Amino acid sequence: MKRIGLLTSGGDCQALNATMRGVAKGLYNLYGSEVEIIGFIDGYKGLIYEDYKKLSPIDFTGLLTRGGTILGSSRQPFKLMREPDENGLDKVEAMKYTYRRLRLDCLVVLGGNGSQKTANLLSEEGLNVIGLPKTIDNDLWGTDMTFGFQSAVDIATDVIDCIHTTAASHNRVFMVEIMGHKAGWLTLNAGIAGGADIILIPEIPYDIESVIAKINQRAASGNGFTILAVAEGAISKKEAAMSKKEYKKHLAEVLEKYPSVSYAIADKILKKTGKEVRVTVPGHMQRGGAPCAYDRVLSSRLGTTAALMISKGEFGSMVAIHDRVITSVPLKEIAGKLKTIDPKSDIITEARLLGISFGDD
Ligand code: F6P
Repeated sequence: MKRIGLLTSGGDCQALNATMRGVAKGLYNLYGSEVEIIGFIDGYKGLIYEDYKKLSPIDFTGLLTRGGTILGSSRQPFKLMREPDENGLDKVEAMKYTYRRLRLDCLVVLGGNGSQKTANLLSEEGLNVIGLPKTIDNDLWGTDMTFGFQSAVDIATDVIDCIHTTAASHNRVFMVEIMGHKAGWLTLNAGIAGGADIILIPEIPYDIESVIAKINQRAASGNGFTILAVAEGAISKKEAAMSKKEYKKHLAEVLEKYPSVSYAIADKILKKTGKEVRVTVPGHMQRGGAPCAYDRVLSSRLGTTAALMISKGEFGSMVAIHDRVITSVPLKEIAGKLKTIDPKSDIITEARLLGISFGDD
């Protein structure tokens, strides 16, 4: 009898359930009744505190289109994993104890950057671990694409599409603030798909004067409105020149005055141009709802590949996609690395040729 543990960790996304379904279907088809799947509740928390449930094939039906996660998720920061909890419990030892007590053959971790770092830690501690690349941010090293990303791009694009008609009626400047943490993948893709005029991403620090020049240039050529797709992690050239410590302090001051970075930028545009500016923040909507068709296929492929890897005893890796081929990459190679956009990449050049400004010229 094979015993496999499953957990979903960190911020959720649309295709977590679809991916778990892929793992489970793969396992049930490979092992029949000779496999038992155990789901940990709320991510690593369930593994630490022995909160889990035994799952059966019926638990994985109807999941292909269902957003969220049937197991629940929580953020358990990697940097705190080696620190005891408030009752002095050693979390790493507790996770190892649960794994061994349940006689697991493998733990499958669906998670983003921090979660894969912990997966690597557990692998280094001797557990059989397989990672699956989850995040709407698409910032996981070692894979071209993460599941959840494309669904979030679709939602953010829909938002920009809706903003387009109202922006045109009122000759205003509109900003749509898009998630993505420290990476601009979501903003860049939704910005291009939604026809944004200006895209601000963390990888290309902006100059506010350049942003304003683009707005004025559009106005001068008869386009009364301008749409900006702004990453939640967008930074100006001045901010990029600050030390990490200085920037942290500066950001805290900005966020005391404004709800988010977009409002701070909007205020500058209003003061410098006198134009009405409106900010839209779709926020967690971007992580909600059903996965798009692309993600359903990707999740099914990644999930079943995890099942295959279990059957071959290939542990200590994260399942990935590279050049449209499903592959795997050692956890130790990806742990702690962030995949960000290369400002010199083709997609940036192509976007510039469309006339999109990144606020840096
Ligand atoms: O990592 C996914 C993500 O949605 C980021 O884009 C965003 O910065 C963050 O999570 C939001 O986290 P929380 O749900 O904890 O507010």
